[in-house]
Amino acid sequence: MASLRSYRLLSSRLSSAACRGPTHKGIRWASSAVSQDPMTGELISLPDIEVSKLETVTTDSPKPLPSSSQLVFGRTFTDHMLTIPWSANKGWGAPKIQPYGPLSLPPSATVFHYAQELFEGLKAYRDESGRVTMFRPDMNMKRMNTSAKRVALPSFNGEAVIELLKELIRKDKHWIPDIPGYSLYIRPTLIGTQAALGVQPPDEALLFVICSPVGPYYPTGFKPIALYGTTEYSRAAPGGIGAYKLGANYAPGVVAQKEAAAKGYSQNLWLHGPEHHITEVGTMNTMIVLKQADGATELVTPPLDGMILPGVTRDSVLTLARGHASGEAPIEGLPSKLIVSERPITMKEVKEAGQNGRLVEFFGTGTAAVISPVDKIGYLGEDLHIPTGEDGMGPVSRPIWKHLVGIQSGSIEHPWSVTVTEH
Ligand SMILES: Cc1ncc(COP(=O)(O)O)c(C=O)c1O
Repeated sequence: MASLRSYRLLSSRLSSAACRGPTHKGIRWASSAVSQDPMTGELISLPDIEVSKLETVTTDSPKPLPSSSQLVFGRTFTDHMLTIPWSANKGWGAPKIQPYGPLSLPPSATVFHYAQELFEGLKAYRDESGRVTMFRPDMNMKRMNTSAKRVALPSFNGEAVIELLKELIRKDKHWIPDIPGYSLYIRPTLIGTQAALGVQPPDEALLFVICSPVGPYYPTGFKPIALYGTTEYSRAAPGGIGAYKLGANYAPGVVAQKEAAAKGYSQNLWLHGPEHHITEVGTMNTMIVLKQADGATELVTPPLDGMILPGVTRDSVLTLARGHASGEAPIEGLPSKLIVSERPITMKEVKEAGQNGRLVEFFGTGTAAVISPVDKIGYLGEDLHIPTGEDGMGPVSRPIWKHLVGIQSGSIEHPWSVTVTEH
């Protein structure tokens, strides 16, 4: 009886914590913080991630810093990594910053068999004054916990992990090249590590974070990309996993990408269902700009219907555009009559808009490139051409990109920039 009572007490406390909503304070998810005592059956609350338990082991053989001009995305890693173990009966263990190096896992670990893996991608920037910041890390922690819940991996206190990310970045901050446009790409990852064949929630897991210095996506100015409209494969389906940042979403996309490349296109555009609804551009969210009959400019992106990854850049672009449209936070250069729509959009509509001269822009959004303009879509044997300005961008993407990059590089003060170190 006692155990049922304590369970009810705990679960009401936990659900009210989880229901506080997606505010910065509300990123803590508590679903994994309960376990049953094997002896008494009593439900006990398990430790969440605690920053105060951090142990740091500094490398005694730091690597030489790479030449910035030779950096290739995701090929070079800094000297340290963060690891945090989890087990079903002990909860989250002590975080550790340690030299970057191989993980030791049994070949039976569930991550290798059932893709019990999820990840995030965010960046740390150094501004002109030398201050290091992260961009909206609370959004990544929230999405990481949402992904964890979808595949029965343990959730965690996102605020604690943000503090630990700061510690890791402070340790390796000299790896962020001191050149505009360069940054540190941060890859938090969560895997199931239980040594057991059997499809079930793992009773052991590991959260780890590695960091990689990266250069600008477009080092010599924007180069619009050509997309191949993929109708042969689906990236996501209703009720599936497209809205979660799980490794399992990415391997099947490689073949579609390879086939697009073989046809001469640089990325693929994922189209869904018989009406060819536009979903995502490779591994980016999609934005389409249309001119309406009354002269207004409409920025359209597909809604978060369970098949679209809720991108941090997508949300940032929509928030900035809405701030401008409402007059609350106008952005220089954006059209005055701007409508922001999260609505389904098909290739038929885009094609017709192109034929009627109403297609203004088409671009992808994501952490790596921020904004990727598109100038061509190969669709059912024809090429649809999309206008781009001389600089490769358009009337909506250009001012929004400038503003976003201004926030990320520290030239525009904004609460989305989270300070890691002062100069
Ligand atoms: C499938 C997919 N869609 C969209 C995005 C863009 O998300 P974000 O803006 O958070 O980088 C990514 C990249 O993370 C992605 O992998």
